[in-house]
Amino acid sequence: MYGIIDKLYKTNNATEEELLFVLNNIDDDSKKYLIEKSNEIRLRVYGKKVYLRGLIEFTNYCVRNCMYCGIRAKNAKADRYRLTKEDILECADIGDRLGYKTYVLQGGEDPYFTDEVMIDIIKSIKAKYPNNAITLSLGERSYESYEKMFKAGADRYLLRHETASKELYENLHPGASFENRRKCLSDLKKIGYQIGAGFMVGLPNQTNEDLVKDLLYIKELDPEMCGIGPFIPQKDTPLGKEEGGTLEATTTLLGIIRLLLPNVLLPATTALGSVHPLGREQGLKAGGNVVMPNLSPTRVRDKYALYDGKICTGDEAAECRNCIEGRINRSGFEVEVTRGDNIKWQRREM
Ligand code: 5AD
Ligand code: FES
Repeated sequence: MYGIIDKLYKTNNATEEELLFVLNNIDDDSKKYLIEKSNEIRLRVYGKKVYLRGLIEFTNYCVRNCMYCGIRAKNAKADRYRLTKEDILECADIGDRLGYKTYVLQGGEDPYFTDEVMIDIIKSIKAKYPNNAITLSLGERSYESYEKMFKAGADRYLLRHETASKELYENLHPGASFENRRKCLSDLKKIGYQIGAGFMVGLPNQTNEDLVKDLLYIKELDPEMCGIGPFIPQKDTPLGKEEGGTLEATTTLLGIIRLLLPNVLLPATTALGSVHPLGREQGLKAGGNVVMPNLSPTRVRDKYALYDGKICTGDEAAECRNCIEGRINRSGFEVEVTRGDNIKWQRREM
């Protein structure tokens, strides 16, 4: 065990068998050692900095039917909303004042937001805040669509691969293609976006073998960002009565990812904060260096209900800003008010 962790630390690599061995056999002492090593790497690459992203959840309409997700098309109980361009710009103003130099525009796959509509929103934000980064998270679209939005000024794109097991992927995403999801990620990369992949931990029927596939896929893809969080059941979905993923399993994977990809931007996710009151703090200590506080208007917060028990649904943006800074400081880290690009891109600009 310790030999494998040391190898990961020194070479940022491990074989399939070694990764599986770690996931199957990690205990309290070796976990402590893993976290120590991943924190060392994180401090070496990013110091104590934690980057902030203002998350704007701008539509909960979605044409997809992901089995785990509360905004799936077939969930008639979801109370649907769309933000207008004006709403989104207002969020951008508030965010800029709070020190968020990156906006994440996230939504379901909503046909209302055509390329033209998105381009107008992207250009309007960039006209006002040319130095702030725009990250999109709107699911699968065509190469041409991604390219147009990139040319309009979008900088980054988050598209979790969700799981690197084809069988599990197909069971969870009726009518969707495992191959197309991966093609989207490679298209985004080719176009020039900084990309974010990622997966859920503790999905029903997910094995450690599946999680090793996620780790190997992430290592090979080498994305700028990797978002991982526990699966959390949502009562109005087909998986509503299943068990959720745990804080422990998620922080182990965060630690391993930091060792595999020293430069990666690794969020301590809202889902992690939702399964444990100190989940995000534990995520930062395990190698996380990004948090994405909510910037959506309070009136729509609880409607973007991907899973039950989501934190921050009643809090104003400014409250989340203060709350998160306290949490970061108490974990021994510091808020960084910049765009917070991946370190490789920061060097490219210098
Ligand atoms: N539990 C945890 N994460 C979820 N997501 C969607 N539904 C759930 C759930 N029930 C995650 C997916 C998606 C991201 C925006 O939220 O990984 O990519
Ligand atoms: Fe939103 Fe703590 S980050 S209330």
